[in-house]
Amino acid sequence: MKKIFKSKIQIGIGIMVFAFIFSLFYSTQIFSEEIPFKRLDKFSKRMHQLRGEAVGYPVNQNTDLKEFYQWYIDSRLYDVSMNNVGDPQKASIYSMNTHEFENELIDFFAPLYGFSKDEAWGIVTMSGTDGNMHGMYFGVKQLLSQTKMLPICYVSEEAHYSIKKLADLQNLELRLIKADESGKMIVSEFEKALDPTKPALVVIAMGTTFKGAIDDQAAIDAVIRKKKPIAVYRHVDAALFGGYLPFTENKDLVNRKVFYFDSIAVSGHKFFGFDEPMGVFITTKKTLSQINPFNVPYLNQAVPTITCSRNALSALKFWWKVKKTGMQGFITQAKEILANAKYLEAELQKINCPAWRGEYSNTVYFKRPIQTVMRKYDLAPEFDSRLGGNLAHIVVMQNVSRKVIDEIVSDVKTKMQ
Ligand SMILES: Cc1ncc(COP(=O)(O)O)c(C=O)c1O
Repeated sequence: MKKIFKSKIQIGIGIMVFAFIFSLFYSTQIFSEEIPFKRLDKFSKRMHQLRGEAVGYPVNQNTDLKEFYQWYIDSRLYDVSMNNVGDPQKASIYSMNTHEFENELIDFFAPLYGFSKDEAWGIVTMSGTDGNMHGMYFGVKQLLSQTKMLPICYVSEEAHYSIKKLADLQNLELRLIKADESGKMIVSEFEKALDPTKPALVVIAMGTTFKGAIDDQAAIDAVIRKKKPIAVYRHVDAALFGGYLPFTENKDLVNRKVFYFDSIAVSGHKFFGFDEPMGVFITTKKTLSQINPFNVPYLNQAVPTITCSRNALSALKFWWKVKKTGMQGFITQAKEILANAKYLEAELQKINCPAWRGEYSNTVYFKRPIQTVMRKYDLAPEFDSRLGGNLAHIVVMQNVSRKVIDEIVSDVKTKMQ
């Protein structure tokens, strides 16, 4: 050894050579052509185990896509690369897309939110956030075209953080309006904040993320009519509630013919249940005509979407899910999650755990249990001094059965003693 490494320089070279050989060995291990199925199976097993207990987030784990994937494999569609780039309502030069299914899906949803088929324009998005991004972008463009001024964005402080981030992205002045302890925007605070000399981009929280509160659209509208801002655009963030409300007796809450709005964003993976994020965004053709779409000659059309390449497979999956489930199926699911949420609230109250739920909501928020319970069920924490401080919530989706609820309540009770 002493002979080989005579000097410090030689030692340094030795280390470098060793590091090089090691990294070569390591990278060929990672990128070798052998797929490590054992590792993948272990990963898949862990995901399946977690699935039953993740109740802190608004995700329907009953994805039920086996039939879709069977057909997908049988039809060998995996050998094809598709892309929904472009406006689905215009013939695209790039024809490897699922626009026809995307359009039928928008035709299904448009009337549920009070858009007539003729006036509606919509797309399948990557997520609720993507839908909010399009709503806020279209809103800014419409207000700019009407007033030549950037709008002020008004939203409840309890609205999803994507709204705050997206306002930042567009360099908008953001006025966060205080919310009451149930999570609803305090409308008198909105009235104080509303500047009638500037255009207003008002984002309605149709189900706040933590407490599941719905902003009072009629009261917000009354303030707008009273203070008369020079121009207004209303975008509804209905990520979770926009999924199930159209299938309940309270469907008017998301109907723009009853409570007017210009656009709406809904998540697909929340109520409807998918193995990946997606969503829908719907507005009117009139709004679409007021944005500057930047003509794209090689696509023979204007591309109105912010994102150019768009997922073609998710639009097809969404279409499949709607066909398979149908109105009656969604009505049954909506009824069940709301009944189970009521049950959870009542069971927590029975064990003297303070618990609350918004009127139209499948989210139950309650006094935060100890950390082991929080971790076991993937519960999201929140703090509200008006409700005693530390809180947690459970979003009762289709996979949260009464059996799961009983187990959670029993864990909460045991750890309370
Ligand atoms: C009210 C609300 N808006 C938007 C989002 C973001 O939706 P996504 O996760 O689909 O981007 C969420 C997510 O939980 C939400 O609760």
